[in-house]
Amino acid sequence: MNRAPEYVSYARMDELHELQHPRSEARGELNFILLSHVKELLFRAVTDDLDTARHALEDDDAAAACLALSRAVRTQRVLVACWESMNGMSADEFAAFRHVLGDASGVQSFAYRALEFIMGNRPSGQVEEAFRQGHPTVLAELARPSVYDAALRHLARRGFEVPADFVNRPPEQQHEEDPRVEDVWLEIYRHPDRHRDAHRLAECLTEVAYQFSHWRATHLLVVERMLGGKSGTGGSDGAAWLRTINEHRFFPELWTFRTRL
Ligand code: HEM
Repeated sequence: MNRAPEYVSYARMDELHELQHPRSEARGELNFILLSHVKELLFRAVTDDLDTARHALEDDDAAAACLALSRAVRTQRVLVACWESMNGMSADEFAAFRHVLGDASGVQSFAYRALEFIMGNRPSGQVEEAFRQGHPTVLAELARPSVYDAALRHLARRGFEVPADFVNRPPEQQHEEDPRVEDVWLEIYRHPDRHRDAHRLAECLTEVAYQFSHWRATHLLVVERMLGGKSGTGGSDGAAWLRTINEHRFFPELWTFRTRL
């Protein structure tokens, strides 16, 4: 019996290439599925690096956390660049096979939801939906503090005045913007030499949040390019709904404190 080369058997490449099944003859559909798979896997890669960062913060190792966050950022840039390939499809080519998607939508991606949850965006509607669906990856994420919570707890242990309610909050609860947390970042940015590690950590977190928003904003542009004002397959208003999502910022006080700097 022929034995598959190690490259094929090690990473199960034959199984990987079995996973793409276009439902139409339309030219763009294979690439659409391939890119969806690539993005799903990269969501997981980013979550994995954020998890490493969270462990490092729990061990009060800010340098190791920054290393993991910087790695996440590299993958996030690749995620943004993936939209370039998607844009090779014209709106008429997408329209030719969109009907085969049924009600499939990225909003149902559990890998994406786990990523939003580890970043700390846990709005009650999404949390309820996660409990309803019961996907183990997403539920496991909800049981743990977000990477932002881990950073704030680390700063509290380092002597910064992080309010106690943030340190002891149940993990599934949404982070609400708070001026007292803004004060912590303000102190760090007013005295970067005094708080070298914390300043570096803040810059790394900001870059992760920035890249995430960059991905969302580019997704919105792609959606406008493909759909104009049509509603989404997931049942939303489409671009109009995504525009409101675009307003959200991860690690919110890291954005708002700048007005006072
Ligand atoms: C032609 C390309 C695409 C179009 C036109 C499109 C369109 C949309 C629309 C209209 C929504 C809003 C929800 C809905 O009603 O469906 C949405 C959400 C979403 N899409 Fe896409 N999408 C595209 C490609 C992708 C790809 C390749 C991914 C990554 C796998 C993706 C990930 C997501 C995610 C994660 C959401 C939910 C965002 C959130 O919950 O904040 N999309 N998409």
